[in-house]
Amino acid sequence: MHPLTQPLAGVATSELFARHVVPNYGRFPLTIARGEGSWVWDEEGKRYLDFATGIAVSPLGHRDPAVMRTIREQSETLLHCSNLYWNRPQGLLARFISERMMAAPGKVFFCNSGAEANETLIKLARKFGSLRPGPEGPRYEVLTFEGSFHGRTMAGISATGQTKVKTGFAPLLEGFRHLPWNDLAAVQEAIRPQTAAILLEPLQGEGGIRPADGDFLQGLARVCREHDLLLMFDEVQCGIGRLGHFAGWKAIPGAEAVLPDAVSWAKGMGGGLPIGSAWIASRPISGEPGATLLSDVLGPGSHGSTFGGGPLVAAVSLTVLEEIEARGLIPRAAQLGREIREAVLSWNLPMVREVRGMGLMLGIVLPPGDPGASPTPAARLTQAAMERGLLLVPAGTDVVRLLPPLTVSSEEIALALDILKTSLASL
Ligand SMILES: Cc1ncc(COP(=O)(O)O)c(C=O)c1O
Repeated sequence: MHPLTQPLAGVATSELFARHVVPNYGRFPLTIARGEGSWVWDEEGKRYLDFATGIAVSPLGHRDPAVMRTIREQSETLLHCSNLYWNRPQGLLARFISERMMAAPGKVFFCNSGAEANETLIKLARKFGSLRPGPEGPRYEVLTFEGSFHGRTMAGISATGQTKVKTGFAPLLEGFRHLPWNDLAAVQEAIRPQTAAILLEPLQGEGGIRPADGDFLQGLARVCREHDLLLMFDEVQCGIGRLGHFAGWKAIPGAEAVLPDAVSWAKGMGGGLPIGSAWIASRPISGEPGATLLSDVLGPGSHGSTFGGGPLVAAVSLTVLEEIEARGLIPRAAQLGREIREAVLSWNLPMVREVRGMGLMLGIVLPPGDPGASPTPAARLTQAAMERGLLLVPAGTDVVRLLPPLTVSSEEIALALDILKTSLASL
């Protein structure tokens, strides 16, 4: 009999990991065996309300019928074909993203993860900087921000404004500087002849649920126009409807009209299957007649991915995006976010310093623990909630994220809030 059909037979799952899996994650002691809607079950059959969703990955929850149907139908037709050829689901998905999510002319590149999507933006910035050199030659520098997180590849950790992800991996990729968050004057001062682009998360996730100010985003768009820089948004975590808009930054008051040059999305797009994407604006890279469009700068041979935008994942992603729209989940996410925030603040608990974020990407800010103390306050609250049947995600040492599926019911939110309150009181 295949070992997967007898999961508890023989060695425990934790033991398989201890012996055979690279220990690069700090894991909570829980094996997730199956999921349904907003719930997951462990191997012993205990159920948990999933307000982690694989870190903002499953907008429709687990085993959504529409997603399951597309998986079945597409897998019976074609699972994979190379990007040496066209496949229709990829084309339809790119059209949906450009027409519905962005409502602006642009083109889309597909890959498999958030890090690869950001890698695409960074390569785009370099290519753009080589075609539009400064007085000192090709421009290559990408300005990013303190507290940011852009993925675990070498370019991703070089772009990330957190020391902890870089330690031990020197030399990093050249050409990144991390500036103070929400500080437009610091950005203006930092621009130099080598600078080609600015990359930021409109709502920083791993850095502790810290939104950009609307004024800051508007100011960045202006500065980018003045200095011929690309404005690039990393929406890997905050995009796909979670903030109350398909394109996350449009949910930030004052930033609705900002139009970036490029945007990365991943996580929620595939409803649980791995997919990443980079949307690139179709605007001329210079004012000269016949200038190349930015969305054509990455020409044949310049970039690629074997699995990117394969027919199965593209068909599923299109279903996920269509279902989010058809079920009205985006305005609902905005409303539920407001209700959760008000409920948590109404408890007046000293343990809750602040509730940050918007829509269904919220952070409960706890009092900071002693520097270097382990477990951190965020890990203690996450563990306390898990023991009571609620999955949450730490963001740094003193913020805990609530990332429920966009399909979460009001009853499930009420239950989660009960568990959260009891868990906070237990700390
Ligand atoms: C904002 C942001 N960018 C990039 C990434 C990297 O995505 P992935 O883990 O899919 O490579 C993450 C993952 O948490 C993220 O939150």
